[in-house]
Parts: sequence; structure tokens; C-alpha cells
Amino acid sequence: MNLNNKYNDIKINIGCGQIAADGWFNLDKSPNALLAKHKIIRKIIKKLSIVPASVFEANYRSDIKIVDVHKRGLPVPDNSTSWIYCSHVIGHMSRDQALNLANECLRALKPGGRLRIVTPNLRDVAVSWLEKIDAYLKKNRDYFLKYDEPDIGIGDCFVKSINLNLYNRANLSRIQRLFDYPLQHYYDLDSLTLLLKIAGFSDVKESCFRITSMPDIEYLEKNAESLYVEAIK
Ligand SMILES: C[S@@+](CC[C@H](N)C(=O)[O-])C[C@H]1O[C@@H](n2cnc3c(N)ncnc32)[C@H](O)[C@@H]1O
Repeated sequence: MNLNNKYNDIKINIGCGQIAADGWFNLDKSPNALLAKHKIIRKIIKKLSIVPASVFEANYRSDIKIVDVHKRGLPVPDNSTSWIYCSHVIGHMSRDQALNLANECLRALKPGGRLRIVTPNLRDVAVSWLEKIDAYLKKNRDYFLKYDEPDIGIGDCFVKSINLNLYNRANLSRIQRLFDYPLQHYYDLDSLTLLLKIAGFSDVKESCFRITSMPDIEYLEKNAESLYVEAIK
């Protein structure tokens, strides 16, 4: 985006991934965003096959601003934006990191500005787990285990379903880990509301898929099965 007027009510899309929107300040730390700016290096890495081929299926725009919000925060002044969108990002952070990010959002928002957070809903994960347990109890262990691994037990299956980080990253190389952003933390409405209140937001409400006054929501919001929360400064 044109940054000459960049702080004149900029709209910020944190961890935009492949959903970078026109007219937004799209931020992401992914090496994919960096490679989108350096097509030749991208080709070389692809040829060397040092990262999974699936990495190259991702289509990141070359105008994404490369920022690791843990290291740099939001690269905008205080009270400079009315809109911050953050979809499927805070779950990929520790809770402390998410709290720091929420503090940053509060700093960057103008009074009355809106932060919209979308993240997987722990409640949905738990409900789907209980459905599985029901299936197990009503049918038999074989029926249950066809969904999961036979050698880790039912309790561990739940841990696995909520703790992808622990189970999935053990055999990734260092380079592969750069392209990988595992889920680290699940929220339900209460825990996300509490986090935002601790950060200093007083007006926090649950929202629904694409129900918001936020501009461009039909483009930005693709995932209909999540937890949607809005906080106003
Ligand atoms: C699951 S994707 C979500 C992408 C998009 N927002 C969506 O809803 O489809 C998570 C994105 O957050 C980015 N991300 C994770 N941690 C970040 C950080 N500390 N700073 C900037 N971007 C981050 C990742 O690089 C990745 O592109």
C-alpha cells in the first residue's frame, strides 16, 4: 500500500497470510512473504527441495510488510488506526505473546477503534471431542480408534487434538520450522475476553462470521467456524 499517507487512519491486518487486502497494511512474518518479494531465491529453494513442496502452494502477495509482531510490535504510532483485523494468528502464539499483541493493538487504536480477533474455538474442539467419546462408548474401541492412533490412549488423543505443537513439530528440520506456524493456544469466549480485558479493553463482545462494521470483511473473513471477538478502545 502507499505509505505516504500511511498513518492517516491505516487499517491493519495482522498475520495476513494469503489474505492480504487492498488498502490494508498487511503484516506477516512468514518466510513465504519474504520469498514472494524474491522470486529467484524462491525458485532456488524450491529446486533444492529443502522445504516441503506444499510451502510453494501458498500464494503470498509481494507487498506484505514483513514484521514479526513479537519482535517489533505494530510498526505504527499510538492512536493511528480505527481498524485492526487479526484472523487465526493469536492461536499460533503463547498466551503471553498474545497479551503483548493485545497491548500493542490498544496502543495503536484510536479511541473508538475496533480490534477483531478470529481464532479456533476451544468450545468447538471440546464438543467434537465429546462426540468422539460418545461414539467410543456407544460402539467400541475399534470404531473410536479409526479416527486416531491406536497406541496413545483416549486422553492422549484429546491432548493431541488440542496440542498440535507438541505432536507435529518433533521431526521438522530447522528450515521447515521457519515455514511452520503450529497452534499453541486455544481460547473460548471467556478466556479471550479475559485476555483482552487484562490488556485494557473494556468493551469486548462476541461476534459472528462476517457480522461487523469492519470494512472489507467479505474479503478478509473466509473461515466460518471460529470464535469471533471484537474489542473497542
Ligand atoms: C494460520 S495463518 C492465518 C492467515 C490469515 N490471517 C487467515 O485468516 O487465513 C497465520 C499467519 O500468522 C502469521 N504470524 C504468526 N505469528 C506471527 C508474528 N509473530 N508476526 C507476524 N505474523 C505472524 C503466520 O506467518 C501466518 O501467515
